[in-house]
Amino acid sequence: MKPDLEKSLGRRLERELPPPLARAIPALGRAGEKLGLRVFLVGGFVRDLLLRRKNLDIDIAVEGREGAVRLAREFSRREKILVQGYPRFGTATLHLPGNHRIDLATTRKETYPAPAALPRVRPGNIHEDLYRRDFTVNSLALCLHLSEFGKMLDPYGGFPDLERRRLRVLHPRSFSDDPTRIFRALRFEQRLGFRLTPDNLLLIRKTLAENTIARLSGTRLLAEIRFSLSLPGTALTALLTRMDKLGVLAGIDPALKFDPETARVTRHLQKSLHWFMETGGIGNFPGFEPWMANLIALTANLPDKKLEHFALRLAPSAKLRKKIIWDRARGKMVRERLEIDARIEKSLIFSLLHQFPPEAILFLEAQTGKETARQALRLFLGGGTFAKPETGGHDLKQLGITPGPVYQEILARLRDLKMNGETRTKKQELEWVRNHYGPHLRNRH
Ligand code: CTP
Repeated sequence: MKPDLEKSLGRRLERELPPPLARAIPALGRAGEKLGLRVFLVGGFVRDLLLRRKNLDIDIAVEGREGAVRLAREFSRREKILVQGYPRFGTATLHLPGNHRIDLATTRKETYPAPAALPRVRPGNIHEDLYRRDFTVNSLALCLHLSEFGKMLDPYGGFPDLERRRLRVLHPRSFSDDPTRIFRALRFEQRLGFRLTPDNLLLIRKTLAENTIARLSGTRLLAEIRFSLSLPGTALTALLTRMDKLGVLAGIDPALKFDPETARVTRHLQKSLHWFMETGGIGNFPGFEPWMANLIALTANLPDKKLEHFALRLAPSAKLRKKIIWDRARGKMVRERLEIDARIEKSLIFSLLHQFPPEAILFLEAQTGKETARQALRLFLGGGTFAKPETGGHDLKQLGITPGPVYQEILARLRDLKMNGETRTKKQELEWVRNHYGPHLRNRH
């Protein structure tokens, strides 16, 4: 049975949203009414409101010519808040106090010129706007008109699906029109605890058999991989198991497999990631991306040539590409070395590891079965092998050493000494420099 939101929407918004958002939503309905525009809450926010899940990503659809931009202007005039309009796209964003935002879009219909291509967009009514969406549970709308405030529009059976926790597309071409929906569906299964219907699973298999993922642009595919590999803990391993069974991994690259060894390392890696974040080790590595550690684990068994091909296909930035194609052969050697050597100096751990992406080091930590190696890798990841000498370039200059590449060499040696506890004070460091770099000192005089 449909919930009676016509009575309770206002109260629920006030109870569940920060005040600037709770106030803006009915105010947008009123402003729309004045302009003769129909205004609706749509998308994931409506789904999550009905599921009683917290969601502050508010999407509003506005029916009427240039509806979103006109409504945003009117709202800005009334409420004296900042708006950004994008007339070319028929969208606008409201920037509310407290760093909150609301996205507005003029209702539209979409057609796909070819599978996996970007859609052609034309103005359309609210029913057409809901029909272009991915799943029935995302095709619900709530009216914001004063006379119908909270009334639910459910032309495609989203609410019964929501109650049965069922995921279903709106028409049979949906997955081939937009194969990113395959990834979205599998993520929703894990995140919401929903299940794809058997006939939708069949549709996915059919779409995959037509090799539709291959048609997705590298950028879009990368975005889906990034979102998918950002799922936490057991949800990630369940997702990857399902992606493997359904043939989604093979659709990305035929060599990609979630075999038992990859699954074992991925499970370990989730614990390592948890440890890394909980202990604050992640703070030592600005730019660390958990999903990248998962990607490194997933691609660990791809032959080098295939990995390069895969990285080029995703066409990421040079920085990301370097992380995907990291020096795996050296990584393996270092791991094996750490597995054999029980007592190893901190400075050596640092010099063995610092050239690898931190995501790869966490992967090595998850991969190793040896406690000694695990300890060394965790020491590095926890920042226990980092040290900054007390001495700087300025001090070396004062000692009379001619500036040049030798500075870097000296400072690295001083860092190692400090790391290993052989020096503690600046005096000791300077003395060490005098003793070991005498010839350089003399050069100057
Ligand atoms: N949408 C779609 N097809 C896509 C992406 C999005 O139809 N490939 C629609 C869905 O109706 C979705 C809405 O656009 O509800 C907003 O997209 P997004 O914010 O990405 O998803 P949400 O459903 O809000 O889910 P999330 O909880 O992940 O934010």
